[in-house]
Amino acid sequence: MYNLLKGKRGLIFGALNEQSIAWKVAERAAEEGAELVLTNTAMAARMGGTAELAEKLGSIFIPADATSIEDLENLIDKTVEQFGGKIDFILHSIGMSPNVRKGRKYDDLDYGFLQKTLDISAISFHKVMQVARKKDAIADGGSIVALSYIAAQRTLYGYNDMADAKALLESIARSFGYILGREKGIRVNTVSQSPTPTTAGSGVMGLDSLMDFAERMSPCGNASALDCADYVITLFSDLTRKVTMQNLFHDGGFSSMGMSRRAMKLYSQGLSDMLAAEEANLEFKDVSKSLKK
Ligand SMILES: NC(=O)c1ccc[n+]([C@@H]2O[C@H](COP(=O)([O-])OP(=O)(O)OC[C@H]3O[C@@H](n4cnc5c(N)ncnc54)[C@H](O)[C@@H]3O)[C@@H](O)[C@H]2O)c1
Repeated sequence: MYNLLKGKRGLIFGALNEQSIAWKVAERAAEEGAELVLTNTAMAARMGGTAELAEKLGSIFIPADATSIEDLENLIDKTVEQFGGKIDFILHSIGMSPNVRKGRKYDDLDYGFLQKTLDISAISFHKVMQVARKKDAIADGGSIVALSYIAAQRTLYGYNDMADAKALLESIARSFGYILGREKGIRVNTVSQSPTPTTAGSGVMGLDSLMDFAERMSPCGNASALDCADYVITLFSDLTRKVTMQNLFHDGGFSSMGMSRRAMKLYSQGLSDMLAAEEANLEFKDVSKSLKK
């Protein structure tokens, strides 16, 4: 503990359960001395433990659907009331794709679902900042962070329309980062996190294989949810006041890799196993052919 957030007040979206990245951020922010308000949808709160976490951390829970302007207006008003002043930091840790949930592939998307994916996972970030700015609810020099994934830049099999949502999310961070930075020195960044075993993460096709691949490729290994929380705390602190409009990779080095020794080893082994199996299969076919004669 470094007291990095002593005297700061933060609003955290997306803590569903103990695995959630936002859950870890909330716990670390409280440890670092921040006063918090936690929010999530009313349904998520019933399924998960957002309200219990709020109670444990001595904060309050205010339900809000991050796609609803009415909910966000109520949330921002109540948060400022609770704090008795402006908000120093906001975490947007929200993602959901109905296309992924319903198993719709990228070349057979339901466009109504796609609108929902974009609204929940990206446009909600714009809505949060627009509502908070109109209400002048963010303190000068404040910090806003959203969570992203490298599928915004590179194609990763199975990430589906969430890749498009993340690209939009990162663009919104830059566009709004300019406005909020110019006006009040408020920073806006996205953190591009390693694959992480959470409820949202487990919706991604082949998460276990993806995590294993990323682990083998990353010189420092995959970043856990707790590692991510530690990094996000630095972005909320006064130590990073000039970092803004960035997509910051927090992935053990994965984003700069092409091929690693550990991944090459597995690939070579898999390749020789596959070739041996193909050869055995060919021999089997030859034998069965000659038996038939
Ligand atoms: N898990 C990973 O592998 C991974 C990797 C990189 C980035 N991320 C991103 O991290 C963020 C947090 O996800 P997580 O992995 O902690 O999973 P999670 O399932 O714990 O969190 C997702 C949260 O989004 C909330 N949410 C969904 N719809 C909402 C709405 N309409 N309004 C308000 N909240 C809503 C859920 O209730 C939940 O709390 C997401 O943006 C996700 O894309 C995750």
